[in-house]
Amino acid sequence: MEDKTTRNLVLRNLAGNRTSAVPIWLMRQAGRYLPEYRKIRRAAGSFLDLCYSPELAAEITLQPVRRFGFDAAILFSDILVIPDALGQHVTFEEGLGPVLEPITPLNPMLPNALDRFRNSSQNKLGAVYETIERVADAKTDNCALIGFAGGPWTVATYMVEGGSSRDFQKIRRWATSDATSFELLIDVLTEATIIHLNAQINAGVEALQIFESHAGVLDCFGFNKWVIKPTRRIVSTIKRRHPHIPIIGFPRGAAAQIPVFLSETNVDAVSLDHSVSLNWAASVISDSVPIQGNLDPIYLLGDPGKLPFHVDRVLSAFSNRPYVFNLGHGVIKETDPRSVERLVEIVRNYNLR
Ligand code: CP3
Repeated sequence: MEDKTTRNLVLRNLAGNRTSAVPIWLMRQAGRYLPEYRKIRRAAGSFLDLCYSPELAAEITLQPVRRFGFDAAILFSDILVIPDALGQHVTFEEGLGPVLEPITPLNPMLPNALDRFRNSSQNKLGAVYETIERVADAKTDNCALIGFAGGPWTVATYMVEGGSSRDFQKIRRWATSDATSFELLIDVLTEATIIHLNAQINAGVEALQIFESHAGVLDCFGFNKWVIKPTRRIVSTIKRRHPHIPIIGFPRGAAAQIPVFLSETNVDAVSLDHSVSLNWAASVISDSVPIQGNLDPIYLLGDPGKLPFHVDRVLSAFSNRPYVFNLGHGVIKETDPRSVERLVEIVRNYNLR
């Protein structure tokens, strides 16, 4: 049997092999900047309903792959299905983003949360795994299917702040003033994340990304305790059962802590946000480590004539190592799909040089 990874550019690079053609996919490649997404979204009712509708979620996962020919599809779902499945009330409100009934040190929602989660994996989250099965059946081998979860710290920020936050004061106060009870929450999230990611692999994802989008609000002590340690546990537990599924870490805002994040967590690859200096990253991260990223998504809103210059800067910095083209954060919803089309074309043409 031919090894699927030999045909798949993303998987080959994540396995540590440089390919002459540079693979590309984008964070938030499915979503509101696409008219075909907005059409389904309008008809679907709530955002979480959409995440739990396998037929629609599979269709949305594949929309950007069909339109742009990306080398990977990322499961259409959200990091907040975990608190939802743990029993916390989660909704998404137009213009506000996620709204959660906040948990506190006095009301930490912990008793039986993991039991509830395990039941949810059979029913509610079962819909997510069915989405994966549908996409796995429909896609071609040269398109990798990427599953994901939020890092426990990032998911906890939404659970404790009650939604998005500017200063993350509630969670940072809890984590510093009562680390023992906060650790119980992080442990529950770590366990739920392991269960969720294992189930995604069993359903057919070929790589995983852990989105630690709010890692950057922690100091180095907190980063070690609340990001590195849980990530290491997630990675080592998943690797025991699935040693060949590559895991990409995205410690957004981790800056100078990226090298220690890599060496301590054992993730296979790192996705860099756009605040990371190209030259610095290229010099401090070993050439054997696959890098993903890190074009600032803002360039997709600017003069398309300047795109080649910025894409070239990124591509040339990482030309000597396994590498997957991506943005430094998700596609912004005001992006014109034609700019994404142009971006894909530029990355494809670079391969021919
Ligand atoms: O295309 C993809 O990237 C796959 C699907 C995906 C979504 N969210 C769909 C989504 C993925 C991988 C995520 C991850 C996610 N969700 C993160 C980590 C990455 C990051 O952006 O930092 C975070 C922090 C969340 C939590 C979340 N979900 C927020 C804060 C919001 C509201 C803000 C926003 O952009 O609207 C969401 C909603 C959400 N998740 C949408 C989509 C397509 C928009 C919802 C809508 O259509 O109304």
